[in-house]
This record gives sequence, C-alpha cells and structure tokens, in this order.
Amino acid sequence: MACRIVVLLSGRGSNLDAILQQVHQPTDVPARVVGVISNRPAAAGLERAAAAGVPAECVDHRAHPDRPTFERQLAATIDRLQPDLLVLAGFMRILTPTFVTRYSPALLNIHPSLLPDFRGLDTHARALAAGHAVHGTSVHVVVPELDAGPVIAQAQVPVLEEDDPERLAARVQRAEHLLYPQVLRWYAAGRLQLRPDSVRLDGALLPPRGHRFRLSATETGLED
Ligand code: GRF
Repeated sequence: MACRIVVLLSGRGSNLDAILQQVHQPTDVPARVVGVISNRPAAAGLERAAAAGVPAECVDHRAHPDRPTFERQLAATIDRLQPDLLVLAGFMRILTPTFVTRYSPALLNIHPSLLPDFRGLDTHARALAAGHAVHGTSVHVVVPELDAGPVIAQAQVPVLEEDDPERLAARVQRAEHLLYPQVLRWYAAGRLQLRPDSVRLDGALLPPRGHRFRLSATETGLED
C-alpha cells in the first residue's frame, strides 16, 4: 500500500511542488500526497495542490481563539486524511508539544540551514554574517524543541563571494527541492526507521547531522 503523506504549509509551496513532481506523480514511488493543509487561506500552495488534483484545505489560525483550539481543528482535519507521514513544508506556526507528540516521529520538517547551526529564522543572513563558506538545508524529525529533532539528511551548498541572503536562499531552495523528495522516497520504500531521538537508514544509525549530500555544480542533482 502506498504511503499516505499529508503536507502542511503556509505559503508559496515550492517544496510541495517538488514533492508532487518527484514523489506523488511518479508511478514507481509507493507514496501519494493525500492532502495539503494551509493555515493561511491565501497560500499559493493550496492552488498548486488543487492543480495536481490533491485535496487542499485551509485551517485558518486567525479563525481560532487560541493555539490549542487551532491545533485541535488542525489535528481533526489531518486525522480524517489518515496519514502515515506528516510533512511540514514552509509551515510557519510554532506547534505545541501536545500536537508534536501526537504525530512524532512520523512528522518531518525541512529547515534552511545545516542544523544544529542556525535554528529559527533568518538563517541565510546569519550564515552570511558568520562568514560560513558552506550553508544548506536539513530534513529532520520534529520534536517539541524547535528545530532540534534528529536530522535525517542535509544538502550542502557553497556560499559565494557575491551572495546576498536572497541569492543564497534561492540556491538553498534548489537543494531543498531535491533533498525533501529524496527523504520521502526513502521513507516510502521502508528504508527509514524514525525515532524521536535517532534515525536509521537501511538499518544503520545515521550520524548527528544525518546523511550528507551536496548540491551538484550544475545544481540539478545531489552528490554524496
Ligand atoms: C523553505 O525554505 C523551508 O526550508 C522553510 O520554508 C521554506 C518554504 O518554502 N521551512 P516553500 O513554501 O516550499 O516555497
């Protein structure tokens, strides 16, 4: 049976697009995106989902009086879709420990830095300010502590002399659009064992920063 994936997002949805093209649509990948949920009604990702024929709905956080009420509605919407895996792709609400522990460790996020470097926001500006020569993105298991769960895989990108945060962000996103689908294909193939404190790939414990890739020079693929 195909792995049932539900994607949560808040905005553009370029990672959703990559997942739809590289995981959902190929018939040889045993996974399907069975629903996309946004907390913002105007999220472009909702249209991307609908265009691909995937059920898309909004649970607007502003329509709920507090975070627990919002999360109860969100969880009810998710559970109707009966996911095997919940995927955060640019979901910009902090989730409470109650919500996280309900789904973790089958709850993944993509974060635009080489964790544990630069948890939180403004990662590209912070990588530039720190003078890092290498930056990148991480896919990790979500745990109650923000951006602190075990890392499954990272993709490194070079930081170039002429970079500003926007240029660097665009290069990191090109890596994200390859990395997230790769991790989801591993999961769908039964190759990942997720736990709140560790991850195994093909039975072998992954190191703290996960499996390491780098973006190829042509930026069209990942290399070990
Ligand atoms: C990505 O850069 C991801 O790392 C971060 O949010 C961004 C979402 O972009 N968590 P998009 O909506 O998928 O284009």
